[in-house]
Amino acid sequence: MYHSPSSSILCHSPRVTVIGAGRVGSTLAQRIAEKNLADVVLLDIVEGIPQGLALDLMEARGLELHHRKIIGTNNYADTTGSEIVVITAGFPRKPGMSRDDLLRTNAKIVVEAAKKAIAHSPDAIFIVVTNPLDVMTYLAWQATGLPRARIMGMAGVLDSARFETFIAMELGVLPGDVKAMVMGSHGDLMVPLPRYATVNGIPITQLLDAATIERLIERTRNGGAEIVELMHTGGAFFAPASATCVMVESILLNQSRLLPVAAYLQGEYGLNDVFIGVPCRLGCGGIAEVLELSLTEEETQALHLSAESVRRNIDKAQEILTNVSK
Ligand SMILES: NC(=O)c1ccc[n+]([C@@H]2O[C@H](COP(=O)([O-])OP(=O)(O)OC[C@H]3O[C@@H](n4cnc5c(N)ncnc54)[C@H](O)[C@@H]3O)[C@@H](O)[C@H]2O)c1
Repeated sequence: MYHSPSSSILCHSPRVTVIGAGRVGSTLAQRIAEKNLADVVLLDIVEGIPQGLALDLMEARGLELHHRKIIGTNNYADTTGSEIVVITAGFPRKPGMSRDDLLRTNAKIVVEAAKKAIAHSPDAIFIVVTNPLDVMTYLAWQATGLPRARIMGMAGVLDSARFETFIAMELGVLPGDVKAMVMGSHGDLMVPLPRYATVNGIPITQLLDAATIERLIERTRNGGAEIVELMHTGGAFFAPASATCVMVESILLNQSRLLPVAAYLQGEYGLNDVFIGVPCRLGCGGIAEVLELSLTEEETQALHLSAESVRRNIDKAQEILTNVSK
């Protein structure tokens, strides 16, 4: 039999590490593999869980007709050389909890995961998913020392998808025809921008009255909590995994999609030294550009309010981490 000499470029399959093999992490692993985007290393602190999930996903390969490998592990050495690292490790909310209530439990988990992951994949692009999102992304940025293009948080894509869903449901149109942009922090102070929401180019302000738009905005702000209240145990994971996968895809395929992403700001929108959701172009190097939209005074105020609450929580998280290390 003739074997052609293999080219290292053609034979290279990108590798995405997903830290945390819980509901978001395992669903994300499934999405990445089944979209044929990359091999996936699924890592968790609990022994057996990532290995079992990976084997289960591997057994579906022939049925789903993809050829990506999924490896389950508890060992960071297996993540070596990843192009992208996604951090989903940490606790989700219980009914009645806000995302900020997770600060204490998740700060240490995220910092430890980020440090271990960067040691094995120094060239990777990091996407943080763990809540409270904007604060955890800041901590991971500090822990890794990455340039701002290569570290970001996922929230805006999900919050925008929720807003789009509620608009589509209200108007009875295809969700894919609705485009919306939600900026700001991932929490009660997020900043949905109805002025920039359209159905195939038609502003929703021409299709819905102000009171209806306000109701849909409120439901978007409460989108995560609505699901937590319904399920009692854990939160949303299908749409969060899809939203993260959209970001992974834009980076791996260098699609240059313009997406709302929690990015480190250095003066944009008059904000400094904070991660917060803003429109960014995502390509093979990570964040290629932070787009500065023109905002009204009211929108700018809402964004600043959002950033102030993130900043307060960053200070709180740093206090917690200092006390832990004493
Ligand atoms: N940014 C967003 O829009 C968004 C959306 C949904 C969920 N989330 C957040 O994502 C996180 C995960 O949610 P989930 O529903 O998958 O939770 P989950 O409880 O199902 O999974 C979390 C996993 O993390 C693992 N883990 C804990 N400590 C770890 C460590 N030190 N190293 C490696 N793994 C560790 C756990 O064993 C568990 O398997 C939560 O913080 C949740 O609030 C964020």
